[in-house]
Amino acid sequence: MRILVTGGAGFIGANFVAHLLAQGAERVVVLDALTYAGNLQNLSGVQADPRYRFVKGSILHRALVEDLLESEWLDTVANLAAESHVDRSIKGPDAFIETNITGTLRMLEAARSVVDKRPATERERFRYLQVSTDEVFGTLKSDDPKFSEETPYAPNSPYAASKAGADHLVRAWHETYGLNTLISNCSNNYGPFQFPEKLIPLVIHNALAGKPLPIYGDGKQVRDWLYVGDHCSALRTILEHGAPGETYAVGGNSERTNLDVVGTICELLDKHRPRNAGSYRDQIAFVTDRPGHDRRYAIDAGKIQRDLDWSPAQNFAGGIEATVLWYLDHGDWVDNVTSGAYRDWVAEQYA
Ligand code: NAD
Ligand code: TYD
Repeated sequence: MRILVTGGAGFIGANFVAHLLAQGAERVVVLDALTYAGNLQNLSGVQADPRYRFVKGSILHRALVEDLLESEWLDTVANLAAESHVDRSIKGPDAFIETNITGTLRMLEAARSVVDKRPATERERFRYLQVSTDEVFGTLKSDDPKFSEETPYAPNSPYAASKAGADHLVRAWHETYGLNTLISNCSNNYGPFQFPEKLIPLVIHNALAGKPLPIYGDGKQVRDWLYVGDHCSALRTILEHGAPGETYAVGGNSERTNLDVVGTICELLDKHRPRNAGSYRDQIAFVTDRPGHDRRYAIDAGKIQRDLDWSPAQNFAGGIEATVLWYLDHGDWVDNVTSGAYRDWVAEQYA
């Protein structure tokens, strides 16, 4: 595999790049704009690998994408570059439309124009994977069946709407132009290198800093937590064995309420880095709910299990303990990414 990974300096991207190289990829080229969420330190473990190359740039820059696909003779694209944080999309949706929709359009057009010039066998071999989210399906009630590939799209946040728009473009580029596309819709990821604006790393970071652990609304919203290493193996499996034009729902089979997740993190911190007195639970604070807050996400991953023989290897208990331990061991990483801009965001969001 000779692959372009966009957004490779972000949370999932950096884990995916390391995974691909460990699994024997021939060439891995990362294109990343290094927004607040992208960090070259996430890729320091692969920096010395001669099969890896980093290019700073935007997916909005079609000519750059075309040049990389051509000059590196890449046969695979995984588009992970995105604005990814729901709360930021509520405060400022424009960047989400620009990067997630227009950026995907530019990626598809770049891929189409380069691949169309290749011989038929190379065209056939080419794969474009759009890494999407279960949030495009909207929200579930507690007794609704889980999301699957058949669930109609009903996005509720600007972030989810932008990802849904991108998925529709990908589908159309397959149907209309015959590009060999794949779409994965996965549930909430967690693990090393996640930026501490998302629930799990934010709670670990705040707990250690002696700050409140903010729970939106009643904290009974449910997410289906997927360990990032399992997501990476799913993405590689889809690229290697998925059928062009198909969509795959990827989940961790680990539905938890936010209150459960935060409680578990507190227990793990009490065990591994106890406070002088009391429990980290004492820091839990209920705050105003997120507007349009989706109540429940859950994935039926039956199709990828049946068709591609993939299932998650990590359960939530193991994954969350590994994650807490990683953050305890990487205080320097957290200090580096929680810059002035990060502190401004936290001050505004949790005022
Ligand atoms: P992230 O925010 O940690 O990383 C996004 C990366 O994209 C950053 O490195 C950023 O610099 C880069 N980027 C942003 N705009 C860019 C542009 N115009 N050109 C090039 N690079 C750009 O996000 P993540 O959590 O790693 O998510 C990766 C992908 O997976 C996203 O598409 C997201 O929608 C999807 N996804 C994430 C989750 C999750 O739980 N994190 C769940 C489902 C789907
Ligand atoms: P988040 O990590 O932002 O992911 P998403 O919105 O994509 O699911 O949030 C996960 C859940 O945690 C979601 O229900 C919102 C909630 N949440 C809080 O209760 N407090 C917080 O400070 C954050 C960031 C999220």
